[in-house]
Amino acid sequence: MAELRLQDGSRVTGPERIAAHLAPLGVTLRHWPLPEGARARELLTAQVLTDLEKDELLGLVEHRFEALRAESGYQARDLIVLHEELPGLGEALAKFSAMHYHDDDEVRYVLAGAGYFGFVTESGAQMLLRVEAGDYINVPARAEHWFVMGDAPRIKAVRYFTDKAGWVPVYTPTPVALA
Ligand SMILES: [Fe+2]
Repeated sequence: MAELRLQDGSRVTGPERIAAHLAPLGVTLRHWPLPEGARARELLTAQVLTDLEKDELLGLVEHRFEALRAESGYQARDLIVLHEELPGLGEALAKFSAMHYHDDDEVRYVLAGAGYFGFVTESGAQMLLRVEAGDYINVPARAEHWFVMGDAPRIKAVRYFTDKAGWVPVYTPTPVALA
């Protein structure tokens, strides 16, 4: 379950209380049950997946993509698998740890592991949302945010796209004040 940390150090838990903080930013957070069964557990817990295994895992959550495609016109999805031994992980994460936005929504369904999305509220305060297995998040286009991983950087997440061209970071000068 997600957890939100505010800039004053306080922590917000519970889906409804977290949603109340995210709603003014247009950020949607939902909890989607994970695929079940022995094979799903194998795929979810493996550190590394082959391309075939990634496709297999995507297939287990394909109904989510079909629903997003029907509701909102999503065109593509892929699975990212990040772990501490992945070559180039530091450089990949550095692209997203500075304040940025995208011209398209950033839509993720976390299947395993965890990560942190940072946001800037209307008043300029910042907050950090921990997302973990089972969390679906939609960060709307042009919303300032950043993304970091914890000390044990491991995550498997499905990325959904309406248009891959819209999903590059556009950096803003706002300094990140929360880590
Ligand atoms: Fe982003």
